[in-house]
Amino acid sequence: MKIPQDKIEQVRMASDVADIVSGYVTLVKRGKNYFGLCPFHPEKTPSFSVNPELQIFHCFGCGAGGNVFTFVMRIERLTFPESVRLLAKAAGIVLPEEEEDISQLQEKEALFFANNMANDFFVDNLLHAAEAEPARNYLRKRGLDEALYTRFGIGYSLDRWDGLLQYAAKKSVNPELLIRAGLVLRKEGGGTYDRFRGRITFAIHNLSTQVVAFGARRIVNDESPKYINSPETDVYQKRYILYGLHLAREAVRRENGVVIVEGYTDLISLHRAGISQVVATSGTALTDEHARLLRRYTANAFILYDGDSAGAAASLRGADILLSNGFDVRICLLPSGQDPDEFVREKGVAAVQTQLSQAMPLMDYKLRLMEQKGMLKTPSQKAESARDLLSSVAKMADPIQKSFIIRDLGEKLHVEEAVLWSEVRKMEQRLRLQLRPDAPRTEERKGDRFFAGKRGAAEMGLLEIVFTHPELLPRMLGVIPAADFLHPDIRLIFEHLELDRLEGIAFEMQRYLSLIQDPVIASNISRVLQSPAHQAHPERFAFDCMNAIRIAKLDLRIEQLRAEMKSGEKVRDEVLQEYREIVEERKRLEQIDFAFE
Ligand code: UTP
Ligand code: MN
Repeated sequence: MKIPQDKIEQVRMASDVADIVSGYVTLVKRGKNYFGLCPFHPEKTPSFSVNPELQIFHCFGCGAGGNVFTFVMRIERLTFPESVRLLAKAAGIVLPEEEEDISQLQEKEALFFANNMANDFFVDNLLHAAEAEPARNYLRKRGLDEALYTRFGIGYSLDRWDGLLQYAAKKSVNPELLIRAGLVLRKEGGGTYDRFRGRITFAIHNLSTQVVAFGARRIVNDESPKYINSPETDVYQKRYILYGLHLAREAVRRENGVVIVEGYTDLISLHRAGISQVVATSGTALTDEHARLLRRYTANAFILYDGDSAGAAASLRGADILLSNGFDVRICLLPSGQDPDEFVREKGVAAVQTQLSQAMPLMDYKLRLMEQKGMLKTPSQKAESARDLLSSVAKMADPIQKSFIIRDLGEKLHVEEAVLWSEVRKMEQRLRLQLRPDAPRTEERKGDRFFAGKRGAAEMGLLEIVFTHPELLPRMLGVIPAADFLHPDIRLIFEHLELDRLEGIAFEMQRYLSLIQDPVIASNISRVLQSPAHQAHPERFAFDCMNAIRIAKLDLRIEQLRAEMKSGEKVRDEVLQEYREIVEERKRLEQIDFAFE
């Protein structure tokens, strides 16, 4: 059972992050925050901080961070629900029980038993009951005969209120169990009645071939719903169950591909015709869980839907989910609005094979759709359509597949690949933030080498001054323009500082700290914040750093000019002139002593 969201919220409110952390880490209060030795990596100086106002923790050393739940998850090595449980217990909040204890396992077994029993009854009815004659006729007309009944679990529910109830009573099965299995309903005034009456039943199996639910189709075209389905139960959760997967999985593996259809009858007809790598979504939207399940057997999916507009829309929704789970997706919409069942019966299995072999790669299909809708005419339409396509591409898991598709799109849309790539990268970034807000960054230690050099050390030095001696800011800003900083984090912070100064916004440490991404910077800054008096002469230090950056800039330019002069061509006078000036300027900078007015 899932823990309800409001309960999680209640636990979060009751669990103060500083309280919880102090059970594991000795915290010392400094300013608004607490500091301590990080429990997630070895360290001698505390770079682990807790912000009680924002209810978050952050380690400037190793980058670990998050809220009270993520802290408990990491330190106790628990899953999310487990950490919620632990904190709930500490806070005295009672949660609904979740452990799969023996009684629950027994309950599942009981639900399997009830559904299997019902299936036996329904199939037997269809094979033998006199009153099932219209159902048999109906199925025969659709090409589904007795040989298929047992194999697929096709049956018939008698047209009476207590067909299954009576059968169960003969077997001494408690009606209460049938109710929990969703096979029987309780009447308002008391009493019970069968859910499925006078319908053809399609048994739905799980992967261990237990019957877990039914879909039941009407035989006559009356006002009632075409299908009546089992409700969700402990053994039937739609997002995990794909109709027919238990029969299809060997074929899916063998053929290295899965055909996805919508309906029970589509699947059964295809099987009958010899195409058995088929599963049906049976009226529910394809989920991530479905996709992950299928991904265990293949990475190639063919969506074979009705050619009508509803089918087309449904196919696109499912396609993106498959794509983001690493599938190569192809779309096959049948002509003249036929569903796979009608199509295979009318045109034969070879025609289906041909359709599948001509199935369109998802991107081609989407492009064609946009073309048909006239959405690729003006440049702005094209840009909008391209973005739409790229949002699917950004979700793709396989980088090689991704690069093929982007190359292809570039050619078809007449857009440079690099432009498409940069757009996709932006979308990926956004997706990452949505999916895993505190995912570890890839370029973890990019700062290491940079800060060993003079330029890097000077940039870091200025940043230290920003945080330890913000009163010097007015004398620093503008001397080195933000754009001159090479490190992206430092450049960003100086950009903010410059803008804030223009707009008269006061210096706020926490906000600038939150802009730091590079762990090398983060750990260093948290270190100097621990010892604010680390510079005996902060003004002089700042001046030296600024000077070092100016000199480094000049050195870069000197190198460029030298290369130009060595290139063999006639050296222009302007070049010589600039060179002389810069060398002079460099000498002057090296000689001037501390002159920070
Ligand atoms: P279809 O309407 O295409 O049904 O819905 P079908 O299986 O092809 O039925 P026939 O060919 O008319 O006999 C596709 C699937 O959507 C679900 C069923 O799982 C069906 O197989 N569905 C449809 C429902 O659950 N309830 C409905 O009322 C209709
Ligand atoms: Mn159909």
